[in-house]
Amino acid sequence: MPIDYVEVLDPDSELIADFHDNVLVEAFPDKYVREDIPILRKNVIVRNWTDGNEICRYHLFTACKDGGVIGGVSFYFFSFGSYAMGMGSYIGVKKEHRKGGIGRKLIDIRDQTLFADAREFDCYLKELVIQVNDPSLMKIEEIKNDSMDPWKREMFWRRRGYRKIAFNFVQPAIKPEYPPIEYLSLHIYPYVYELKDMKRISRDELRDIIYCFVKCTGTVGPMDTDPSYLRMKSELSEQEYFAVI
Ligand SMILES: CC(C)(COP(=O)(O)OP(=O)(O)OC[C@H]1O[C@@H](n2cnc3c(N)ncnc32)[C@H](O)[C@@H]1OP(=O)(O)O)[C@@H](O)C(=O)NCCC(=O)NCCS
Repeated sequence: MPIDYVEVLDPDSELIADFHDNVLVEAFPDKYVREDIPILRKNVIVRNWTDGNEICRYHLFTACKDGGVIGGVSFYFFSFGSYAMGMGSYIGVKKEHRKGGIGRKLIDIRDQTLFADAREFDCYLKELVIQVNDPSLMKIEEIKNDSMDPWKREMFWRRRGYRKIAFNFVQPAIKPEYPPIEYLSLHIYPYVYELKDMKRISRDELRDIIYCFVKCTGTVGPMDTDPSYLRMKSELSEQEYFAVI
């Protein structure tokens, strides 16, 4: 049976609940890092927004087999006008279907979709940034409860050219009653030649990346009162460059 890769555009689609129940719950067992079905639906309803020169577009693709969802990827295209970046939200494949190339196909779809958005909005797509569980920041219990060995996950991304940004990122709470997440690090994948082999990232570039993440994925209130965002802002002011390792 072939695998169908379907973009979810209808907020009432059953694919949203299937993706959540069949893929996200298993792949992201920590409920505090996981969007629930109402949040996923809201993302599909809002899908596009603009604010001044900023353009944001949400995408959710599911991998379906025999009528069920066995994997998926969600991400944002975010443009500042002249240049744009992609921001990963979730990627997951059901355990029994891993190591068959579905993850690679979902990564390809994400890249192609971001380039198509950049062409549509006539801007320069610089990079993709994702959040990855950082085993050096995780407690033993968090490592034990993870859905895969976090060191292997880091290697999975590294082999594909993603590099960790040495910055103390905090994912702001995704619901008011949830805590912020302290064990994620940002990884960057360059789409443009001048960023290949980058060894460091400037404060201004990192500020844009953090701004995008917090604006799209995290905040439950105004950004300027969010304690996680304020902490990152103050840490940013202390260094001019941050290592990319
Ligand atoms: C990360 C994840 C999405 C990868 O999905 P996947 O479908 O297993 O990915 P792929 O099959 O494309 O690649 C996995 C490995 O299997 C190998 N593989 C792919 N097709 C294969 C095949 N036909 N035969 C043998 N090996 C194969 C790949 O080469 C790859 O190994 P590599 O990293 O050494 O190159 C999946 O492990 C997952 O859901 N993890 C939990 C959630 C998660 O951590 N998401 C990432 C958050 S940042």
